[in-house]
Amino acid sequence: MEHRNFLRFFFLFFSGALALLVTWLHFPSLSDTQLLDCNLSSDSCSSHYSRFFRSKLPTFIKKNPSPTRRRDHHNDTPRHPLDPLTIHEFNQVRSILSRYPLLKSSSYIFNSITLEEPPKKLVKQWKPGDPLFPRKASVIARVNGASTVLLTVDLSTQQVTRHEVDPVSGYPTMTVEDMVGATYAPLKSFEFNRTITARGVKMADVACLPVSSGWYGKIKEEQNLRLIKVQCYSSEGTANFYMRPIEGLTVLVDMDKQEVVSISDKGRNIPIPNGIDTDYRYSVQKLRGKLDLLNPISLEQPKGPSFTIDGNLVKWANWEFHLKPDPRAGVVISQAKFRDPETSKLREVMYKGFTSELFVPYMDPTDAWYFKTYMDAGEYGFGLQAMSLDPLNDCPRHAYYMDGVLTSADGTPYVRPNMICVFESYAGDIAWRHVECPITDLQITEARPKVTLVVRMAAAVANYDYIMDWEFQTDGLIRPKVGLSGILMVKGTPYDHTNQIPPQEYLYGTLLADNLIGVIHDHYITYRLDMDIDGEPNSFVKVNLKRHQTSPEEDSPRRSYLKAVRKVAKTEKDAEIRLKLYDPSEFHVINPNKKTKVGNPVGYKVVPGGTAATLLDPEDPPQKRAAFTNNQIWVTPYNETEQWAGGLFVYQSQGDDTLQVWANRDREIENKDIVVWYTIGFHHIPCQEDYPIMPTVSSSFDLKPVNFFERNPIFRMPPTFEDDLPVCKPRDSSA
Ligand SMILES: *[C@@H]1O[C@H](CO)[C@@H](O)[C@H](O)[C@H]1NC(C)=O
Ligand SMILES: *[C@@H]1O[C@H](CO)[C@@H](O)[C@H](O)[C@H]1NC(C)=O
Ligand SMILES: *[C@@H]1O[C@H](CO)[C@@H](O)[C@H](O)[C@H]1NC(C)=O
Repeated sequence: MEHRNFLRFFFLFFSGALALLVTWLHFPSLSDTQLLDCNLSSDSCSSHYSRFFRSKLPTFIKKNPSPTRRRDHHNDTPRHPLDPLTIHEFNQVRSILSRYPLLKSSSYIFNSITLEEPPKKLVKQWKPGDPLFPRKASVIARVNGASTVLLTVDLSTQQVTRHEVDPVSGYPTMTVEDMVGATYAPLKSFEFNRTITARGVKMADVACLPVSSGWYGKIKEEQNLRLIKVQCYSSEGTANFYMRPIEGLTVLVDMDKQEVVSISDKGRNIPIPNGIDTDYRYSVQKLRGKLDLLNPISLEQPKGPSFTIDGNLVKWANWEFHLKPDPRAGVVISQAKFRDPETSKLREVMYKGFTSELFVPYMDPTDAWYFKTYMDAGEYGFGLQAMSLDPLNDCPRHAYYMDGVLTSADGTPYVRPNMICVFESYAGDIAWRHVECPITDLQITEARPKVTLVVRMAAAVANYDYIMDWEFQTDGLIRPKVGLSGILMVKGTPYDHTNQIPPQEYLYGTLLADNLIGVIHDHYITYRLDMDIDGEPNSFVKVNLKRHQTSPEEDSPRRSYLKAVRKVAKTEKDAEIRLKLYDPSEFHVINPNKKTKVGNPVGYKVVPGGTAATLLDPEDPPQKRAAFTNNQIWVTPYNETEQWAGGLFVYQSQGDDTLQVWANRDREIENKDIVVWYTIGFHHIPCQEDYPIMPTVSSSFDLKPVNFFERNPIFRMPPTFEDDLPVCKPRDSSA
């Protein structure tokens, strides 16, 4: 029984890894599973490529290793100043710190060990071939379960060069061991055992989740303890245990001691939903009739993809950027540059872009739900929760997979294979077109296919899956995109039909199935975008569209038209943007010192999307902690310590180190190195289609060139000709 429990809890945290293992068994080698008889040297597949196309858009063809092959990272060496720490370097950090006086005589865990990036000024001067700057590690550790220390370890001198204790309120990102330990803690409790048994659940079927406890100020037991709430489910009969909540049972656990503090048990009268037919695994689903409505589909890339990845440097079409996994942010894009087709010069666009924080408040103030106000990056580690991607289903064929090297609580490095994928995407879209109509008698048909480059990671923070894309276009546009899927966090209820619900009762959500409510919630994803448009000094300009009433002097039959009114933001307050449909603006990041030939400042604009805004009371504790969602756009002067919108330590944070607090200083931002923050938002009122697993819902925003180029940068892009692509015949086609 004990053993089965262990497996259950283990399964919970490493299900991603297990899923990958299963995938390996199904697809031993991709090259063996050819769906099409696509033989380049045979007649069935003509293979004439347009040299013209290839000479315009630089081609970097490199055979990708099979995505299912594990790469050995033991001999990895950093080659770029921003390259993540290697296995060898992690081991060096551990060995230096094992001799460090503070830690020598203490018990400690490492909440994070990451590269401390060299100063931006130095990184920008660095050229391939130059020696690397001294490599440094930034370490966050909990010492004796009582204090949090922030250390910098210089690997070149083997010295600890910074040592700060409890620099800000809150606790660091949990380790995976913290989370696993917390879910075990209730098993030692007699009271827990009793209530589980009383509800008719076998201990062996219990699956528990670690739910970050938030901070609510007034509650006494929240003082000076690193706390987590554990909630449990019955996994009997389904792998989708999330659909079988043991409602109202909340175990408060001291995370440093891994001990139960108290148990709240307020749902004894609520039945556990039956979970019938909720298992989403293909292998166990009962298929009724033929459901394979689609033939297999894949992108044809007979010459392989057009990108190269050298270490962490990605080159594709006119783009170049540095890409790395990060335990907290997930994916970090650095030094994104675009080669201008007119001058062939590489031009800076963005120094660094990443997901800085998330905020996911549930809209139910009752005992077992009020604290569900997750900040997934700072509490759980968005990258720590990014499981291996599933080739062919998560990313298409020809994708390149990048592994992550992460560390466990004792600092031991481990590899998360296939943590990020990079691939070219062609969705049948059009990059630009024009066809002349017969009126002009000019017979012109010109259209260009749109191909993009996608960088993808998928974080499964317990039940929810966040598909995080960075999409790059040949016309200079960058599109950060979020896809939400996975499994709803649901609530048990005595009702199994809406006609049983008394009119005065509010459910906090939607009845989705027997005894099961999908609780309303929001998702906010805040990006930190260090824009450097053609260099560091940039300005933020609000281009407001205003209705202008025509005056008699204008002598026009029109009464009104729209004017674009430009206003340069002088300080941070001028750049706190709340979107308004009937008072619209464009939001430009310009370099006021660089002009196009006709005199416009070069720039990029932030084009909003996913625009749900928070409606919580600004003084509500979760909203104070997540005050970075108070506006959709913020602009701050560059400050390398201001990276995490909810603060360096967001676990049980009190809202004293947020983007709102920094921006309240109202610093000058005109013609300075500036950072733009954008928040994508979703309101989610669950519906029955979200049960038992959610179809993906996506939103994105754009960073789009605005007078950055002299003209359309893909003006000279060639079309695709019939001869460019092989004609692949289905293997069994009789035609
Ligand atoms: C491809 O076609 C050529 C010519 O028809 C044939 O000799 C070769 O064996 C084929 N290769 C594969 C992998 O089927
Ligand atoms: C739970 O309690 C039952 C009966 O009181 C006991 O037999 C069982 O061993 C306990 N299980 C655990 C995991 O503590
Ligand atoms: C950078 O940000 C930190 C945290 O907000 C602040 O303490 C520090 O004074 C800032 N530095 C500068 C130069 O503004």
